[in-house]
Amino acid sequence: MVKLLVAGGAGYIGSVLTPMLKEYGYEVDVVDLLWFGRHLPDTIPVHRRDLFSLDQTDLAGYDQVIFLAGLSNDPMAEFNPALNFIQNAALPAYLAYRARQAGARRFIYASSCSVYGYTVNKLYDEESPVTCAYPYGISKLAGEHGAMQQREDGFSVIALRQGTVNGHSPRMRFDLIVNAMFKSAATEGRIVVNNPAIWRPLIDVRDTASAFARAVQADPAISGVFNVAYDNFTVGQVADLVKDSVEERLGGKVTVEIRNMQDFRNYKVSCDKARTCLGFRPKYGVAAMVESMFRHRDAYGSLANPAYYNIEIFKKLPGADLSPASGGGCRE
Ligand SMILES: NC(=O)c1ccc[n+]([C@@H]2O[C@H](COP(=O)([O-])OP(=O)(O)OC[C@H]3O[C@@H](n4cnc5c(N)ncnc54)[C@H](O)[C@@H]3O)[C@@H](O)[C@H]2O)c1
Repeated sequence: MVKLLVAGGAGYIGSVLTPMLKEYGYEVDVVDLLWFGRHLPDTIPVHRRDLFSLDQTDLAGYDQVIFLAGLSNDPMAEFNPALNFIQNAALPAYLAYRARQAGARRFIYASSCSVYGYTVNKLYDEESPVTCAYPYGISKLAGEHGAMQQREDGFSVIALRQGTVNGHSPRMRFDLIVNAMFKSAATEGRIVVNNPAIWRPLIDVRDTASAFARAVQADPAISGVFNVAYDNFTVGQVADLVKDSVEERLGGKVTVEIRNMQDFRNYKVSCDKARTCLGFRPKYGVAAMVESMFRHRDAYGSLANPAYYNIEIFKKLPGADLSPASGGGCRE
């Protein structure tokens, strides 16, 4: 049986991806510090460990390693930039190194379209220039390079540059664009848009999980960087789509308030390469993302619960506010 290790597999994406891989018949183990708890089925073995503590022996026997760990948004990266560069830039390089050393045949890295930074308004593909000037984007790109440059015959590396991921996961987040708009529309009857003209590629968490599954299944000779998104939207468009879906479901009126604030990210991407090489076919648009949250609305309780906001949990973890040079490091 093909054996997979999902590093950071207890997070928002991992809590959808890992059960999906299990259903496909893979043997799946998770290593995760459980910063946001454990929301995985009991049938999935979860080892609570820092990925930096894994060596060649720990990784022996895995056919493929999927990396979903690190600091997963801008507020976390800006809270402790030094720790961010360690977790997002050094850790993927280290784990890819250990995976290759242990004889794995593929390493799959959760990259981000954030690496495109503030672009001119044209469609960016994987050959387009990547320049970003903020800690999260810089570190995700460095992590991608650190993993990609280790590919060789017999060791494939695939980096999936995901658009912003949205929709329901058993480990829920309301700090992602569609999810945050759903929260304010459903609870306050309004959506605040800081800059309606900014472009963002979006993807449902079920589709991004499928993209990772396609990467696992891809021909062993395939390595490379792939953009994965459902489509590109302006933030103003996203607000209107969420407004329509929420009004249709709840019957009331949702207002959209426009503010004209500057943003440091603006990008739209082409996903043709993932479609052609990996067979990636996203299915879920914004209305389906919103619908997935309505289906679980009662189970969420208060949508303002700090558990749904990565930065709120992260800044309270032991060591999260310390410099790595002074021994800080966010162990548990
Ligand atoms: N969610 C998005 O919109 C999005 C978009 C593009 C890229 N990504 C990337 O995808 C990956 C997963 O995102 P997510 O939304 O599921 O994040 P998440 O924050 O929900 O999950 C990350 C998980 O990694 C674990 N972790 C972090 N560092 C660890 C370490 N050193 N050792 C062991 N476990 C560790 C955490 O406990 C957590 O469970 C991240 O690398 C993120 O940068 C996410």
